[in-house]
Amino acid sequence: METYLTELNAKGYIDAPIDPTLDLVDEINKLKKEKNAVILAHYYQESEIQDIADYIGDSLGLSQQAAKTEADIIVFAGVHFMAETAKILSPEKKVLLPDLKAGCSLSDSCPPHLFAKFKEQYPDHLVITYVNCTAELKALSDIVCTSSNAVQIVESLPPDQKIIFGPDRNLGDYVRRKTGRDLVLWNGACMVHEIFSQDRIEQLKRDYPQAKFIAHPECEQELLAIADYIGSTTGLLKYTQKDPADTFIVATESGILHQMQKASPEKTFIPAPPNNACACNDCPHMKLNTLEKLYTCMKYEQPEIDLPMDVIIRAQRPIERMLELSDRLGL
Ligand code: 13P
Ligand code: SF4
Repeated sequence: METYLTELNAKGYIDAPIDPTLDLVDEINKLKKEKNAVILAHYYQESEIQDIADYIGDSLGLSQQAAKTEADIIVFAGVHFMAETAKILSPEKKVLLPDLKAGCSLSDSCPPHLFAKFKEQYPDHLVITYVNCTAELKALSDIVCTSSNAVQIVESLPPDQKIIFGPDRNLGDYVRRKTGRDLVLWNGACMVHEIFSQDRIEQLKRDYPQAKFIAHPECEQELLAIADYIGSTTGLLKYTQKDPADTFIVATESGILHQMQKASPEKTFIPAPPNNACACNDCPHMKLNTLEKLYTCMKYEQPEIDLPMDVIIRAQRPIERMLELSDRLGL
């Protein structure tokens, strides 16, 4: 046990030997009961993790669950900023992340000390940050948003309110177009959503003329311009359930296809291809979590998310404002 813990900082996860005869799904279910733990998983997780989760959702749904769960331990099958958000909302609970190195390129594209300087240039602006950012960045914000409520949050503010939006320039640009508001944007982006190939997607649209092309708003404007529907991961999933089309070309991380296929087994889902030789886009951060790491993290209750209390306190209000507004809007 000691060795696994000393190695934890370097490795980011508990690298303990696992008895190969164990059925990990059974063991994880036992640990959930024994420890009164809940597993919250994002749609971009491996299918086997999604299948064992108590709740699967987009960033907004996951925050809502983290705020209201009665479990003693929240096991976050997602990336670091998501687990941090859960800790901020439920500071008295133990929040575990199977691999601490599961980061986010978008979050990394906005170091808080640089953002603080950027913010100083616009003293009369209100700061809206996309939830895909560090706890420190949230603490520098007035209100947080996700891709499912960014447009409504901007629209809820007085028309003459000046706004800084960060860190995602693509979501910010999308919100700017939808609302007609003049947002000051931080120049950050997600490595997964920026590498879709317009040419390969247009070819797919020609190959499947009846297919609907759907995209996440973290994609670039040129791609969003040719989409039949734009939405958060939950929005995309719901769209595929209710739209009568039988084929969908899906421009977001490929993990979501698991739930789409489960919800509509008769339909065909084609992952939008990136501008390299791969057939689909995986988020390397999300995919650091595995069933094995989920098991060891629940067994040893490590790695645990730890945040300074002053950051928790300052980041709480902007997230709660988002949750209150989303509740009021029925999102
Ligand atoms: P949503 O689940 O809110 O659509 O966000 C997607 C994402 O990039 C999470 O990292
Ligand atoms: Fe971050 Fe993009 Fe991965 Fe989401 S898909 S965790 S935004 S790098």
